Amino acid sequence: MVQQSAPMTARILDGKAIAGRLRRELAEHIRRGMAGHGRAPGLAVILVGDDAASQVYVRNKKNACAEVGIVSEDFSHTLPADTSQQHLLGLIAELNADARVDGILVQMPLPAHIDPEAVIEAIDPGKDVDGFHPYNVGRLAARAPRLRSCTPYGCMKLLEETGVDLHGQEAVIVGASNIVGRPMAMELLLAGATVTVTHKFTRDLAAHIRCAEIVVAAAGKPGLVKGEWIRDGAIVLDVGINRLPDGRLVGDVEFEAARQRAGWITPVPGGVGPMTIAMLMANTVQAWREHLGDIAGETTGDMP
Ligand code: GUN
Repeated sequence: MVQQSAPMTARILDGKAIAGRLRRELAEHIRRGMAGHGRAPGLAVILVGDDAASQVYVRNKKNACAEVGIVSEDFSHTLPADTSQQHLLGLIAELNADARVDGILVQMPLPAHIDPEAVIEAIDPGKDVDGFHPYNVGRLAARAPRLRSCTPYGCMKLLEETGVDLHGQEAVIVGASNIVGRPMAMELLLAGATVTVTHKFTRDLAAHIRCAEIVVAAAGKPGLVKGEWIRDGAIVLDVGINRLPDGRLVGDVEFEAARQRAGWITPVPGGVGPMTIAMLMANTVQAWREHLGDIAGETTGDMP
């Protein structure tokens, strides 16, 4: 008799729950550190202009700060869309010099008249909690990460949750952006995976995905990754957050079809998104420890 294997349904990687646990651990870590140092971590969040999606992201980041005990409102700035680059750089210089501020985040995208590279490079690398400064990107590329880019770092935490040994795993990243695809490649390489980065010039995306034991989809195109391409048992991390005309939020992966084949999969929403914010909190706490001279965790304990 021919044995038919039952169709597989992926386990859900519940980023919302995992991020909630991380935030509780960070809150406890901050509480203990406060007792020793009397100063909470400080994060300055800067929003320029009135992009609707950015307003939502910034609000979520500030709410997460309040929840874990990071001081944010006192140092944050909402600036009009016609703010000059010179003014923004001046504000960053002030925040760089302010010893109460451990992290500085400038929400992207910026208005077209401001050069994002000039802004990112103006931030003190020790306060660059987005991990976007060339110093921090370079540290990750050179296998000695300091502050790590939040979304790829969150994806690595999700991979850790699966318990899968990443050494030698075939990983395929869809999208080669500075914020996700490129640092994700560095993270996976550091973890010992064999990494392929696909992008808009890739000739046969399906052929790459069919071989992948880990898929990280970060192209910002709804349904780009077909469920039928997913290799049996693969881990699928969907970074895409796309709003459809009917108002639904979907990722870059065909979720229902992919979950029939994958071993693990992130939902959208509630997968990678909450992890990005949790890692921003973790980076701010790491910067705070370094600014307090408590790198070994003598006062604040081990990092979550
Ligand atoms: N815009 C989209 N994602 C991000 C992010 O992670 N950080 C910042 N600063 N801006 C973004």
